[in-house]
Amino acid sequence: MAELKVKINNLELKNPVMTASGTFGYGIEFADFIPLDGLGGIIVKGTTLRPREGNDYPRMAETASGMLNCVGLQNKGVDYFCEHIYPQIKDIDTNMIVNVSGSSPDDYAECASRIDALDRIPAIELNISCPNVHDGGMAFGVTCAGAASVVRAVRRRYSKTLIVKLSPNVTDVADIARACEAEGADSVSLINTLMGMSIDIERRCSRLSIGTGGLSGPAVKPVAVRMVWQVARAVGIPVIGLGGIMTAADAIEFIMAGATAVQIGTANFIDPTVTIKVRDGIDSWLDAHGCRSVAEIIGAACH
Ligand SMILES: Cc1cc2nc3c(=O)[nH]c(=O)nc-3n(C[C@H](O)[C@H](O)[C@H](O)COP(=O)(O)O)c2cc1C
Repeated sequence: MAELKVKINNLELKNPVMTASGTFGYGIEFADFIPLDGLGGIIVKGTTLRPREGNDYPRMAETASGMLNCVGLQNKGVDYFCEHIYPQIKDIDTNMIVNVSGSSPDDYAECASRIDALDRIPAIELNISCPNVHDGGMAFGVTCAGAASVVRAVRRRYSKTLIVKLSPNVTDVADIARACEAEGADSVSLINTLMGMSIDIERRCSRLSIGTGGLSGPAVKPVAVRMVWQVARAVGIPVIGLGGIMTAADAIEFIMAGATAVQIGTANFIDPTVTIKVRDGIDSWLDAHGCRSVAEIIGAACH
């Protein structure tokens, strides 16, 4: 059996397979389907300082090889998370990681500092793809200065492993990744959803309540693999790859592009056991190809 363990900063993952935020609830919802402690990590739903209602319905639409969503970070806020959710998830034997969003750098930092106090949460993932309300509604993650401002503010108040999740809706993702690394990010994960739109031609109307939404699923995978490949060459910190992973072969593509670990999102809606199948598939592939560890194939792709 090959060694599946990998490290993200000082976070040890039993294997490189994690779940993507917003697609796996708080993990407990999937406990009847898979052994949660068989995963490398679980990234829970996006959490904000204050409760958020999310956008109006419809919030999801199926597209060719993917889906669009505009859920809009619906959650009950960080205090509710700490009081009611944390006690239910703290004893799951894997890395429980909280995805944090905000509308200003101070918002992110305050939310992060409250999570820092939770013993059994060893890392957070910053979602910098959400609207920067203070600066006119653009996402922080689309400029180096915006991304740096959030990472800097959070780094001052968060002591554990800090993962920054990058937006693909940019011209040069490697520049943004470097800006995050320079401000003290321990890892970057990518990609978040790609901006998209789908129109119901009979109603002459968008299929989503707010017009546009985020595209995910197999349709985005080649874009995601390309971005992981670019970022892995640009930074020294570990990269976590995601976007359209459905199978072990998909995950191995990301690892060969330079990802140390992967996350699985939309595929969980189709098959709630997919994460474990991908983990086992990576294991079998490594054995069949005479590899002794995942580490041997990280960044192994030539071009
Ligand atoms: C319904 C839904 C909700 C999501 N919510 C979040 C979120 O709260 N925070 C975040 O960083 N990403 C969120 N994402 C993005 C996913 O975590 C992931 O980056 C994206 O879907 C690409 O991966 P996939 O193709 O495997 O789904 C969401 C995606 C979907 C489909």
